[in-house]
Amino acid sequence: MSTCCSSTCSSKAPLRVAVTGAAGQICYSLLFRIANGDMFGKDQPVILQLLERNDEKALAALKGVAMELDDCAFPLLHGIVQTADAETAFKDANVCCLVGSKPRGPGMERADLLKDNGNIFIGQGKVIDAVAADNCLVAVVGNPCNTNCMIGAAQGKRIKADRWTAMVRLDQNRAASQLAQKAGVKVKDVSDIFIYGNHSPTMFPGFHNAKIKGQKATEVITDRAWLETTFCETVGKRGAAIIAARGLSSAASAANACVDHVRSLWTPGAIHSLAVKSNGLYGFHPDVWAGMPVKTTAPGQYEVIKDHPMDEFAKSMIAKTNAELVGELDTVKDMLK
Ligand code: NAD
Ligand code: LMR
Repeated sequence: MSTCCSSTCSSKAPLRVAVTGAAGQICYSLLFRIANGDMFGKDQPVILQLLERNDEKALAALKGVAMELDDCAFPLLHGIVQTADAETAFKDANVCCLVGSKPRGPGMERADLLKDNGNIFIGQGKVIDAVAADNCLVAVVGNPCNTNCMIGAAQGKRIKADRWTAMVRLDQNRAASQLAQKAGVKVKDVSDIFIYGNHSPTMFPGFHNAKIKGQKATEVITDRAWLETTFCETVGKRGAAIIAARGLSSAASAANACVDHVRSLWTPGAIHSLAVKSNGLYGFHPDVWAGMPVKTTAPGQYEVIKDHPMDEFAKSMIAKTNAELVGELDTVKDMLK
């Protein structure tokens, strides 16, 4: 375990960050970024509460990851809990990053994982509701993340649905990169690109509101056909393209997106994409978790931005991704009790 000995340490109380699937691919990047202060800032100590399956190999691998965390001597890392017991992992957690679940392989859609992974979120949703800190914020990464998030939130009585968020930040980052490359500008020149709907090929990366160097992206990239087809499809199918190339699903970029997701939620004024309970906004079914733009109002708190304009193409894309989310809701309705 690292000791607090550097001048970068602060007197802030450590945040308890529970992370599941801690011996998996994504966590092999994610945990080190959290411990380095990339998620909560360089003055915020953390205690990592790491959950793995109750399986000899997985727990041995987790032990190895914890040893490597020790060997980094991160000044902000004030403790590591390694466990296969969900109550221990989620006890008093301020933030839960729910990564642990099966990834898809070649030829599968993320929704094919629903039945297997959905059950994980029933159990973990109940335990989080019972033992996590009152203000606990949950970030679901495990796929299909929107619907897993809905399942987890449905188990709660104490922790409200708006504390449950799912990750579409990887899609936002992918969309920003694609627009920058097409326009021949730097990624930092692209702004106001938000993801609507499901983390699946039906998602809508809202290029109609995006800006490039402050100008409307549609005025900079005038090839509308490229925006409506190549761009939307490239972003929507990027996960499958990575699986085809690597033989494994995205890991470092997913970890980076999880850091961005929570970091933006800890940065008042940040405007970013989150999948949250839609409550009927932007024409989504009120009970589904859909990507949409939010503004962080205080560390860990956000409000949905409700008034982004939608043109006819945007509305048709949202109708498609909403239909898929409603289909997933129907598939798992028995898990929502
Ligand atoms: P991985 O197989 O490398 O790791 C998953 C880990 O979770 C394994 O170590 C496994 O033992 C553990 N695990 C399984 N069930 C668990 C449980 N009940 N409790 C605790 N741990 C459990 O997979 P990965 O590449 O790290 O991906 C994890 C998930 O993230 C997958 O579902 C993947 O599809 C998803 N993902 C989401 C996004 C996104 O943008 N939302 C991006 C990439 C990957
Ligand atoms: C991704 O978008 O890279 C992940 O959701 C993994 C996948 O299955 O596509």
